[in-house]
Amino acid sequence: MFAVTAQSFSTDDPLSGLVLGERSEPEAPDGWTTVTVKAASLNHHDLWSLRGVGLKEDALPMILGCDAAGHDEDGNEVVVHAVVSSPDWTGDETLDPRRSLLSERYQGTFAERVVVPRRNVVPKPASLSFEEAACLPTAWLTAYRMLFTQGGLKAGDTVLVQGAGGGVATALIALARAGGLRVLATSRDESKRAKALELGAHEVFESGARLPVKVDAVMETVGKATWTHSVRSLRPGGRIVISGTTSGPQLDDAMLTNIFFLQLSVVGSTMGTRDELAALVTMLDATGVRPVIDRTLPMEEARDGFAAMAAGDIFGKIVLTR
Ligand SMILES: NC(=O)c1ccc[n+]([C@@H]2O[C@H](COP(=O)([O-])OP(=O)(O)OC[C@H]3O[C@@H](n4cnc5c(N)ncnc54)[C@H](OP(=O)(O)O)[C@@H]3O)[C@@H](O)[C@H]2O)c1
Repeated sequence: MFAVTAQSFSTDDPLSGLVLGERSEPEAPDGWTTVTVKAASLNHHDLWSLRGVGLKEDALPMILGCDAAGHDEDGNEVVVHAVVSSPDWTGDETLDPRRSLLSERYQGTFAERVVVPRRNVVPKPASLSFEEAACLPTAWLTAYRMLFTQGGLKAGDTVLVQGAGGGVATALIALARAGGLRVLATSRDESKRAKALELGAHEVFESGARLPVKVDAVMETVGKATWTHSVRSLRPGGRIVISGTTSGPQLDDAMLTNIFFLQLSVVGSTMGTRDELAALVTMLDATGVRPVIDRTLPMEEARDGFAAMAAGDIFGKIVLTR
């Protein structure tokens, strides 16, 4: 079958390890199922894999890709859940210390077929295209869990989304708006602020600008560059939910005094559960909210998609189709 594979690692030239071509058909172990991929979407994770981050040398060659939608063995339309937990794990799979993401230990989704544990497929509603559904399992699921599980946010609350141009941030804005929240967003870039308004933000601000109100929660993926602003923007008892540190994890000032004196919470968040993915899919079906797709390419042209992502020249998801 055709597949997009990491063959070697390079920090400076990640695309040099990318190989497109034939791979042997996967075999589904007991309790696993084969999904025929119709669409898959790129994440920064795939570029990091080509740099050797999160992927071990002895796992090469590895088919890349965490996100996909397609048909299961019975012809049902499904979305693939990317978090694979240990067979004996029960409960929230993001808390399993031995969990992995597709393309880390098990072969990924950029292929004609991918095998996954039976419980890792979620029904795809007809209202979502395969391309839209393929955008959900990583960035959108991360955003859903940040807002509604780790953030505990509900209709009527006010949220600040930092770094409005990012993949998770754009999902946060759209989902927060659809969930009935008041949405404030920051970006360094004027055109990204304009797009954030189109996506559903009520108000946008330059990064670091003083806000007119204190917020119930801040959604952080930027890290070092926005941390101080995030802490300052919270009401007493408010919460920062953090799932990434694009600008770096080392803080000049962790603002510990503000954190204890104002009784703030800092909550980590990583990916999401199968049940949260099912709830996210239902939310999109019910609200009409859809992921922003930057471009759709045949899987054979995956290299162009990787190059665009590496250049940072995108707004929204890059989708590969079969
Ligand atoms: N925990 C998880 O499950 C999970 C899942 C997915 C992603 N992530 C992580 O989440 C983070 C975000 O990933 P992403 O793909 O959504 O976004 P991204 O494209 O990496 O960028 C996020 C945003 O960060 C802002 N930013 C970057 N450098 C900045 C700086 N120096 N000052 C101010 N803002 C800066 C930019 O916002 P503006 O240009 O708009 O200002 C950018 O749009 C990454 O660290 C990723 O690894 C985690």
